[in-house]
This record gives sequence, C-alpha cells and structure tokens, in this order.
Amino acid sequence: MDENLKTPLHIGLIMDGNGRWAKKRLLPRSAGHKAGMNAMIRLAEHAQKRGVKYMTVYVLSTENLTGRPQDELDGIFKLLREYFASNVKKLYKKNARVKVIGDISALPQDIVRLLKEGEDNSPAGAEFTLVFAINYGGRADIVNAVNRAIEGGKKLDEKGFASLLYTADIPDPDFIIRTGGEIRTSNFLTYQAAYAELYFTDVLFPDFSEGEFDKALQNFSERERRFGKI
Ligand code: IPE
Ligand code: IPE
Ligand code: MG
Repeated sequence: MDENLKTPLHIGLIMDGNGRWAKKRLLPRSAGHKAGMNAMIRLAEHAQKRGVKYMTVYVLSTENLTGRPQDELDGIFKLLREYFASNVKKLYKKNARVKVIGDISALPQDIVRLLKEGEDNSPAGAEFTLVFAINYGGRADIVNAVNRAIEGGKKLDEKGFASLLYTADIPDPDFIIRTGGEIRTSNFLTYQAAYAELYFTDVLFPDFSEGEFDKALQNFSERERRFGKI
C-alpha cells in the first residue's frame, strides 16, 4: 500500500450479503453470519493496521431485530456471546477498545451484560475503537436525541444535538462501505453520515478480504472532498 494514502478516520461498514453467501454454498444462513463474523474480526485488525481510528460495524438494524426469524436472530446472538466472552480480549491486546451503539435493552439480558463488560474492560487510551451497532437505527438515534433535547428544555445547535446521539464521543464517519450489492444505507448513521464518502461493492461480506478493503481505501484516497467549497 502507498504510504501517502489519505486514510479515513472513521469507517462505517454495512456488512451485507451473509445470507446470499451461505445460500450459494447450500449452507444455512447462520453459516453465513458465522463467516461474516470471522471476516469482521479480520477486518477490524486490518483497519487498525492501516491507521483507521474508528470502525463502526452494522451488526443488526432495528428492522433486522423485528424482521428476521427468531432462529436466525438466535444464531447472531450466539456469535455475539462468543465474541464478547472471548475474542474481544485479542482486540484489547492490540490496544483497541469496543463500544456499542443502539438500543441494547431489547436484547437477551446476558448479552446486555457481556456488551457492558466488553466496554468496561476495554483498555484506557486505546488507539482504535471498534463500534458495534446492534439494534441500531439512524432514525431511532435521531428520535432519542430529540426526546432528550426536549427533556433538556433548551434549543440546540448541530454540535449540541450531535452530543445527544449514540455516537456522542466519536467523530462522524468519513467513509461508509457497503458490501453485498445493494445501493442504500438501510438506516445506518443517518445523521452522522451527512458528508461521508460512500463505497458500494458487489462482494458478499464473508468474501470481503483485506485486499478488497485496501481497494476501498485506495478509492477513498482518490476522492476530492469539497464540503460545499470549490
Ligand atoms: C447482513 O447479511 C447481516 C445482517 C443483516 C444481520 P444478510 O443477512 O442481510 O445477508 P443477505 O442480504 O440476506 O445476503
Ligand atoms: C443492513 O442489511 C443491515 C445490516 C447489515 C446489519 P439488510 O440486509 O438488513 O438491509 P436491507 O433490508 O437489504 O435494506
Ligand atoms: Mg441483507
């Protein structure tokens, strides 16, 4: 990789295509989610190596939680349990922390506990943050923030409003990658992504390798970000 590449500070990753990946192999959808989780673990490590500081992975949307069959959700919960009970420690060892965004109160209680422990046991002063978006919706994020603003009883500017979102202490994503071929953002970081560069690829998430990730980084680096200026 070219050392002079502009590296995104915060990547949002819409990890789509697990189900189709499994179907192609005549495997159950749960096998696709398992392969997707393994891909996510590899990519988080790789992103940190490339100098990215934050990566938000879209694990489960608010729509997924109500819209997927219970056995599929149970499979995803199992993967989260495994990750937060053991795998997360490998991330800590690399001086990285985890953070969770979304309404986790709707998840099984033991998972809520594991997620909180995962955050609490994270190293202080970590150089990389892996953000898990779980039962996350961009609209729900905004509506929560509006309700908190009303409770606060004061008019807010953009900075004040952003401080009420789930992502209060992390910078806006500058690059959003979606695998799996759909050209939409499906309720992901709706407010925060106002000026993000978007990258769509047909590659199904379990096949999204470090090489594909580097291709996306190269593409980001070649973009001119104007922010309304000329
Ligand atoms: C993304 O993969 C993971 C989740 C939404 C939980 P999908 O499960 O949506 O995979 P496809 O889109 O059916 O292939
Ligand atoms: C988006 O994928 C959500 C996640 C990747 C977690 P979906 O598969 O749920 O999105 P739609 O339904 O195609 O928009
Ligand atoms: Mg999908």
